[in-house]
Amino acid sequence: MILNTELEYKGDLFPSSIINYKKDVDVLHFTTSNNVKLQLTVLRDSVLRFRYSTVGKFNKDFSYAIDQNASRGYNHLEISDDAEKYIVTTAKLICHIYKVDLRISILDAKDQTVICQDELGFHWEESYELGGDIVKMSKVAQNGESYYGLGDKPEHINLKGRRFENWATDSYAYGKNTDPIYKAIPFYTGLHNGKSYGIFFDNSFRTYFDFCQERRNVTSFWAAGGEMNYYFFYGPKMEDVVVSYTDLTGTPELPPLWALGYHQCKWSYYPESTVKEITKKFRDLKIPCDAIYLDIDYMEGFRCFTWSKEYFPEPKRMVKELADDGFKTVVIIDPGIKIDMEYDVFREGLEKDYFCKRADGPYMKGKVWPGECYFPDFTRPEVREWWAGLFKELIEDIGVKGVWNDMNEPAVMDVPGKSFPPDVRHDYDGNPCSHQKAHNIYGMQMARATYHGLKRFNYPKRPFVITRSAYSGTQRYTSTWMGDNVATWEHLQIANIQAQRLALSGFSFAGSDIGGFAEQPNGELYARWIQLGVFHPFCRTHSSGDHGDQEPWAFDDEITDIVRKFIEIRYELLPYLYTTFYQYHSDNVPMLKSLVLFDQEDTQTHYRTDEFICGNQILVCPINEPNSKGRRMYIPKGEWYNYWTKEVVIGGKETWVDADLDSMPLFVKAGAIIPKFPVQQYVGEKEITQLTLDVYYKDGKEDSELYEDANDGYDYTKGRYSLKKFNFAGNDDKMIIRIHKRGQFNTAYDTFKINIHGLPFKVKSIKVDNEYVDLKDVKFKNNSLVVTKLFTNLQLKAD
Ligand code: GLC
Repeated sequence: MILNTELEYKGDLFPSSIINYKKDVDVLHFTTSNNVKLQLTVLRDSVLRFRYSTVGKFNKDFSYAIDQNASRGYNHLEISDDAEKYIVTTAKLICHIYKVDLRISILDAKDQTVICQDELGFHWEESYELGGDIVKMSKVAQNGESYYGLGDKPEHINLKGRRFENWATDSYAYGKNTDPIYKAIPFYTGLHNGKSYGIFFDNSFRTYFDFCQERRNVTSFWAAGGEMNYYFFYGPKMEDVVVSYTDLTGTPELPPLWALGYHQCKWSYYPESTVKEITKKFRDLKIPCDAIYLDIDYMEGFRCFTWSKEYFPEPKRMVKELADDGFKTVVIIDPGIKIDMEYDVFREGLEKDYFCKRADGPYMKGKVWPGECYFPDFTRPEVREWWAGLFKELIEDIGVKGVWNDMNEPAVMDVPGKSFPPDVRHDYDGNPCSHQKAHNIYGMQMARATYHGLKRFNYPKRPFVITRSAYSGTQRYTSTWMGDNVATWEHLQIANIQAQRLALSGFSFAGSDIGGFAEQPNGELYARWIQLGVFHPFCRTHSSGDHGDQEPWAFDDEITDIVRKFIEIRYELLPYLYTTFYQYHSDNVPMLKSLVLFDQEDTQTHYRTDEFICGNQILVCPINEPNSKGRRMYIPKGEWYNYWTKEVVIGGKETWVDADLDSMPLFVKAGAIIPKFPVQQYVGEKEITQLTLDVYYKDGKEDSELYEDANDGYDYTKGRYSLKKFNFAGNDDKMIIRIHKRGQFNTAYDTFKINIHGLPFKVKSIKVDNEYVDLKDVKFKNNSLVVTKLFTNLQLKAD
């Protein structure tokens, strides 16, 4: 491992004093006497970019991570200098650039407190072995600073005191603290003195992060090549930091609503009769399910884009029959293309010269499931175009609705490093490079090509893609899962942390293999994992299958009933989850919120790992241990309703919460309005003739949202959506809900059924849009009523 180095280390080189400064609109150029250049770009008042070169000039500016639609523009920019430093001031930040050594300090423009400060700052080491520089950055760790983010690390949610490496790695049955695993997301958030900032080190080489491990008061990051190129985001709210990073690297389009339903997967369901048995059982047992997966055995000898004639003789008919029963078929596609002259995908790839090559010319040959394979260079636009085109038959003709990209780290079997050797060449979209630079983005570019194929051939319906490997920005194209976890209680805890961490890293559409991929859970573990999984944006059971079955009915009737109950809750909450997805898609807001993001001012939250908020208003805490009758958990400040008993708990403390096996700690924020569907066996099974709104009374105010559209297709992009903002206000003898609507979508239902929980007074009068209505006319009973969906003001009073 390349170590972060200390000052004494002779190999480190440093910028000398600034001799030249130039401003070019929003880009500031600084040059030092030893020809180091710093390009400081002011992207927004709270977003700065720092780029360093050690050779006096920059290579072409190119990144796969950055979303072309990222916001740009600031309200204020002023540059001055004094004897020791340049001073860049925006509406939110002050940045000092020290003349003597190019070091940086960033301060809050309002109160001038230090937010982030270089320790040694930028330095580098020349590496003849790697070629180029090992570029390094070290920052002062502030008093009491905590760190969050970095993608899928199976570690404590607070990264302080630990060191990490980003190198996408196939990690079968990884454990707690295994590093690195499948993803490389070099973005973290720091929090100290109640203020939060973020750093995105946009460098696709092998990167390292050290959060006060090597030295107690220093946080550093470095890369084995490429540029020191990082973005700085200021909050001070942590949510704003994550939102800014997500704005820069992008969010996905809305998924089809069915993708938020429950998915069933196994390695492998085959032949067709087995697939049908499984799907039939879901319907017979009335356990909702929207998607069924086919793992590698559906293919002919693991050749991508083929079907096994023996197991799936008529895929089109089967996929249609499954679709008629509400099941969307999702199939796996890996990057390795079997070397076989009889196989047209291979022949075509070879003829067109689309496969990756070693530095000296031969093709990159490696063993994966089909045996020896070549691998497309997804960093070439024409290869991505070809790959997208390969989906025509699967999607357009056969009717497959989703594609699962696996082994795309890329994984290679039986070789040291479990991947391509470093010399393999890539185009990198016209910036030719070795695998050292392209490794971490290989899976992302594969998923991108897959996404474009699905989008083209599934149009006018929306695509659904899931990937294992990812780099920053991959969330624009696909959902993800955490790879090959294990059926242990510890892994249930890890899955919870990873889903939160990915959400804090801009990648919300994620979930674990529920129940564990390797080994076999018992019924209790499976039930507890389902309880957690239904609150993750992506909800799928998957298992390697070689240790037994892992369907909801694979244990006993009690477990089946519990699993059904929780999957039903997910189906009821679909409009809530979809609204949460909309907020992610349109406002860059993470779908899961760790308690620290929810309330950073409460220092109690800084090390909490188990509790999280799903969306904005549902507090979830899984049971992580066997034989539990409940657990202690931290309830964040504010008032919360126990979801089951409707008792109100005042937060800001640890509390024991009862949770027998058929229950789990679940709370709703007081004042929330939670939209609900009736239970369906799959999305679209029923026409929704009335939408339920569960209102949780509060003495005070709270805002909620409801987003709706056609649940698929692109009409929403042309304004055919409905976004309702609910303002709730309550006091001792009155409760008011106001609705503001945006968009032109007309929902199929005409009425809301409103259930009010915790109302402290007896209702004597009801006004809808300022007119008194007869209580009978709105079917008022037990604090429930039915009103037109068109109301803009509803008032309930005690007299
Ligand atoms: C990998 C995947 C796993 C899949 C298996 C076979 O291990 O992570 O999900 O089932 O390959 O395709």
